[in-house]
Amino acid sequence: MATGIIGVGHYLPEDILTNKDLEKMVDTTDEWIRTRTGIETRHIAKNEESTFDLAYQAAINALAHANIEAEQLDMILVATVTADQSFPSLACQLQAKLGASQASAMDISAACSGFIYGVITAKQFIDGGVYKNILVIGADKLSKITDWTDRNTCVLFGDGAGAAIVSEVSEDKGILSFELGADGSGGNALHQEDNKIRMNGREVFKFAVRKMPESAEKVVEKAGFTKSDVDYLIPHQANVRIMEAARERLGLPKKKMAYSVNKYGNTSAASIPISLSEDVHEGKIKDGDLIVLVGFGGGLTWGAMTLRWGK
Ligand code: UT7
Repeated sequence: MATGIIGVGHYLPEDILTNKDLEKMVDTTDEWIRTRTGIETRHIAKNEESTFDLAYQAAINALAHANIEAEQLDMILVATVTADQSFPSLACQLQAKLGASQASAMDISAACSGFIYGVITAKQFIDGGVYKNILVIGADKLSKITDWTDRNTCVLFGDGAGAAIVSEVSEDKGILSFELGADGSGGNALHQEDNKIRMNGREVFKFAVRKMPESAEKVVEKAGFTKSDVDYLIPHQANVRIMEAARERLGLPKKKMAYSVNKYGNTSAASIPISLSEDVHEGKIKDGDLIVLVGFGGGLTWGAMTLRWGK
């Protein structure tokens, strides 16, 4: 047996904030945001809707898609930088609400790379034969730590959650290679200060256009494939210019790359699982496809994996 993903789900809050809305809030234009980032709209959670609420909905959807009950979960991992409290963890809160009585639970802090860190952590427990089903969630409500007066950051982010059930799959499917990395010396380029996101956009951009393509290429090679074997790429949805760098390095046509940054902005740890879930449910990812997931984020961190889709 191998370790893979047997179900996915996602959730986005209802309210939509457009570039036109942002023009009224800070000195920016729809044209600037679209051409520099690819973002047109983002979903923003209401005040009373917490990161927990987003994560819960995504979890319910993933459990239904995998056709398993919460009692069958052995572990819950939540990748987030916006948990409602530092403790108890969001994962423990979910364990209670879902009724996942057999599951251990913890949060993972790796910013936008968190979902990949979570899936690869889950893989170790399943490969080792310790656990069978692990719920991995990427959930963030960045709107609550966004400085809505800072045009350098407030145009970029959105709220949302995506989830996956990591489990045993047949030998020819599942996760084939991965890479996780960190460079703490670059931490100041993207950090939280006085409860707000602070970012040196140009620094993060330079790091990301180097790391995402490099890491994507590396995991394809590690799995013993060539770029032409790749069917689909899911990059962290931060900025279309960064995503394009990864797509071009793998030599893929545009339609073979997940693209939701235009609708949802950068949803941090949620961006990769939202795209994965959406594209699986829309039939863009099919049984047997070789897909590459790749992300980068605060820390600085990065992560990538190749995955043969299916059970
Ligand atoms: O999950 C990881 C999270 N972070 C990221 O992914 C961020 C990565 N970085 C980026 O995506 C890009 O660097 C940005 C989108 C943040 C900025 O794009 P850029 O092409 O790197 O622009 P820049 O930082 O070089 O700024 C160009 C100009 C500046 O004006 P001056 O100094 O040339 O006069 C900025 O002040 O654009 C200005 N600017 C804006 N103008 C209108 C910055 N933000 C805005 C804005 N509207 N919202």
